[in-house]
Amino acid sequence: MPPHVLIFPLSMQGPVNCMLKLAELLCLSGISVTVLNTDHIQRSLILHTDVLSRFSRYTNFRFETISDGLPDDHPRSGDRFLEILEGFRTVTEPVFREMMVSGCFSSKSGFPVTVIIPDGSFSFALDVAEEIEIPLIYFETVSPCALWTYLCLPKLIQAGEVPFNGNDLDMPVKSVPGTETFLRRRDLPSFYRCDDLVNPVIHIIMNEAQHVPRAQGLIINTFEALDSPILVHMRNLCPNIYSIGPLHTLLKSRLQIAHKSNVSNSLWEENRACLSWLDTQPEKSVVYVSIGSMATMTLNQFFEIWHGLVNSGQPFLWVKRPGSVVGEYDDGEVSKHLMDETKERGFMATWVPQEEVLAHSAIGVFLTHSGWNSTIESIVERVPMICWPHNVDQQVNSRFVSEVWKIGIDIKDSCDRVIIEKAVKDVIFQRKNEFISSVKAMAEYSVQSVAEGGSSYKNLIKLVEDIKSMGN
Ligand code: UDX
Repeated sequence: MPPHVLIFPLSMQGPVNCMLKLAELLCLSGISVTVLNTDHIQRSLILHTDVLSRFSRYTNFRFETISDGLPDDHPRSGDRFLEILEGFRTVTEPVFREMMVSGCFSSKSGFPVTVIIPDGSFSFALDVAEEIEIPLIYFETVSPCALWTYLCLPKLIQAGEVPFNGNDLDMPVKSVPGTETFLRRRDLPSFYRCDDLVNPVIHIIMNEAQHVPRAQGLIINTFEALDSPILVHMRNLCPNIYSIGPLHTLLKSRLQIAHKSNVSNSLWEENRACLSWLDTQPEKSVVYVSIGSMATMTLNQFFEIWHGLVNSGQPFLWVKRPGSVVGEYDDGEVSKHLMDETKERGFMATWVPQEEVLAHSAIGVFLTHSGWNSTIESIVERVPMICWPHNVDQQVNSRFVSEVWKIGIDIKDSCDRVIIEKAVKDVIFQRKNEFISSVKAMAEYSVQSVAEGGSSYKNLIKLVEDIKSMGN
């Protein structure tokens, strides 16, 4: 049977971004691909990117859509996360099951689906795949280090290390092999900070821990040199891991397009004027600030960051995504000093072409929520990080940035202008050489991994061969 993959991303910017890159890589390898997006994601993509014309060159590609169960005007932001989960559980899951059982993707494309590649958190997809006997390979868009803490959740619970209700956050964690010397409670996914296990997200992670090892394989957006100490442990549970990252650079090298260009899958309109503004700034001087597509901050946190940036004396480019600050303020409440300094040295945007921004020589540090795509993109562009994690995998990622890879500072659980000012000065000046040399070394490994003969290059070939053989 000709190979036909159904890719089903989680409806968030990070996952959609990298799963579309995988889709493109598979199309280039001669595999037919259907991407199943939620209606909302598809509308945003079409509105803000040239995604349709980009994919129209692949005759072996099609988009399909499914409802996310939420009304059109729902903000779908992090503070409404439980509603997003509920919409998915009650509407998307049963519709997906019906679509698969009825063979709807097969009849539309003319070819039966031979392999399903859903987001790693979609446990229901494996149940359906097993029922209709179609092989399934999970794509985990979270980091391997965080996924490892998911896979260890049964062990953490058995050892009494989870749940913890926010107390003794500096207590070392012992039940995540390979991390015993540096992982503390505060570095575990924030969902584990709860009073009991009756929590919908814990339930999803437990399901994920049970389902992921049952799949035919696991795709991860990382490269061996970055994550092999964790992958060694994970392969005991999931032997067939395809580490094929950084996906965006692997794709660019396959398409033979310039490394600094952007393959955009943005859900918001990108402000490209920020690139001209960056052209006017001194080399490695700008603080780039973004908390990704879902995280939110309070008004108080917003002002602490703002003061910290201004007090640092450095220029800054700040992505203030619509809805990312919870609460309203009046320009009249903002001090003249803050306004004047921002006019002088700041650039505010609602969304930017992040890959191009990070590749710009003016960027000196990335103040990030530590989402996995942002972390990988920053490493590739040799930009050290100040990590202010919010949820999902971000608490774990930020600990690895500071303690394992030593490419930045982790300020988790604090949002204070003095701490932010000091962190900026440390990364840009005091500890500059230390961070730049370690992130540069890691970036060079990432380049090797996607070059011909590199680990990600070879793992992609293996993935393609395996997908082709699974249909037979
Ligand atoms: C979510 C979770 O938050 C994250 O922890 C998990 O690892 C993946 O899923 P998200 O919040 O979207 O992801 O963060 P991240 O993974 O960093 O992805 C954000 C993406 O948006 C990046 O690819 C980044 O390049 C892009 N982006 C961000 C832009 O294109 N423009 C911007 O202005 C900001």
